[in-house]
Amino acid sequence: MGNPNATSALTPTLSPHGESGSREYFLGKKVLITGGAGFLGSSLAQALIPLGAEVTILDAMLPLYGGNLFNLESIKEKIQFVQGDIRDQKLMDTLVVGKDIIYNFAAQVSYIDSKDQPFLDLDINGKGHLTVLEAVRQYAPHARILFSSSRMVYGKITTTPVSENHPTDPLSLYGIHKLLAEKYYRYYTHTFGMDTVSIRIPNPYGSRQQMKHNKYSIVGWFVRQAMEHKSITIFGDGSQERDYLYVDDIVDAFLELTEKGVSGEVYNIGTQERVTFGGMVDAVIAEVGSGNKINIPWPESYEKNETGNYVADTKKIEKITSWKPSISLQEGIKRMVAYYKENKEHYW
Ligand SMILES: NC(=O)c1ccc[n+]([C@@H]2O[C@H](COP(=O)([O-])OP(=O)(O)OC[C@H]3O[C@@H](n4cnc5c(N)ncnc54)[C@H](O)[C@@H]3O)[C@@H](O)[C@H]2O)c1
Repeated sequence: MGNPNATSALTPTLSPHGESGSREYFLGKKVLITGGAGFLGSSLAQALIPLGAEVTILDAMLPLYGGNLFNLESIKEKIQFVQGDIRDQKLMDTLVVGKDIIYNFAAQVSYIDSKDQPFLDLDINGKGHLTVLEAVRQYAPHARILFSSSRMVYGKITTTPVSENHPTDPLSLYGIHKLLAEKYYRYYTHTFGMDTVSIRIPNPYGSRQQMKHNKYSIVGWFVRQAMEHKSITIFGDGSQERDYLYVDDIVDAFLELTEKGVSGEVYNIGTQERVTFGGMVDAVIAEVGSGNKINIPWPESYEKNETGNYVADTKKIEKITSWKPSISLQEGIKRMVAYYKENKEHYW
């Protein structure tokens, strides 16, 4: 997809995602984003290009996940796109060479599917990440690697807000394998001095997320249901609290932690706002202007995975960066609805 060097002449600009400064750090940096055609990876790529980074995207474009070339359409001449799999050791050995920063976003993302496809989840979310780490150890030992972990590593929440020291006892194989990968990253820092940082993402939402199914990124699915004038089904009374973080704020956190995150550490990100599931659905219906909600009892299979109320304690990232989320749920949903109204044919 075009010449990766085409970006090098660009001058750095203010981050489109906040007040975080000139971000000269990224100018001319050679960046690899695995899973980069998906929701978060492509959004990060969109932010890195104006900062003058040279971006290579690797994505396996596996069906049912969020890989979508339209996510990269507006920057396609400025990136290098490689279709391939993080589990391919030979490919990874080649791709990491010369890279300064590696964002490892490639994943099986659904905790629901991890129950039905346990070995696939382990293969991608465990072995796949080990494959990248081994490639970096041998061929790019000085690269900075950022790993997109999940709030699902915590399991049942015992105290809120949830700090990084909260017990980790995941309720899904997805959460177990995310925790496994976090430990891989930490091990490679501890043992080989590699430069890794893990970030625990809460409930992300925003433009470019997949809208095909409800197995992850649930806000998107509800936006779709509302846009199609359908009923939105809520398990239980909808009082469970979640920490919904808009994609631009997530991208901003990744940029900040790329510069300032401490090697071997893990960081929470989140809004610190307590929003109920029902409240999120109300916001979607109000913004779209159609749809309605119905409550049904928790299906047993879901209830077993229910973590209880989640809101992140973000003191750790705030201590070392100026990061603060800046987009309210109402504003985020508004942007999202506008995006999908305009680009529906690429996501439905
Ligand atoms: N979306 C969420 O709800 C959520 C929440 C917390 C953490 N995360 C994490 O954030 C990261 C990005 O998720 P997202 O929301 O952008 O999902 P996404 O599905 O939009 O993107 C993931 C991308 O990874 C690609 N991929 C999957 N397996 C691959 C492989 N073996 N090799 C190469 N590419 C592969 C997919 O094709 C897809 O484009 C993931 O690590 C995910 O676990 C996501």
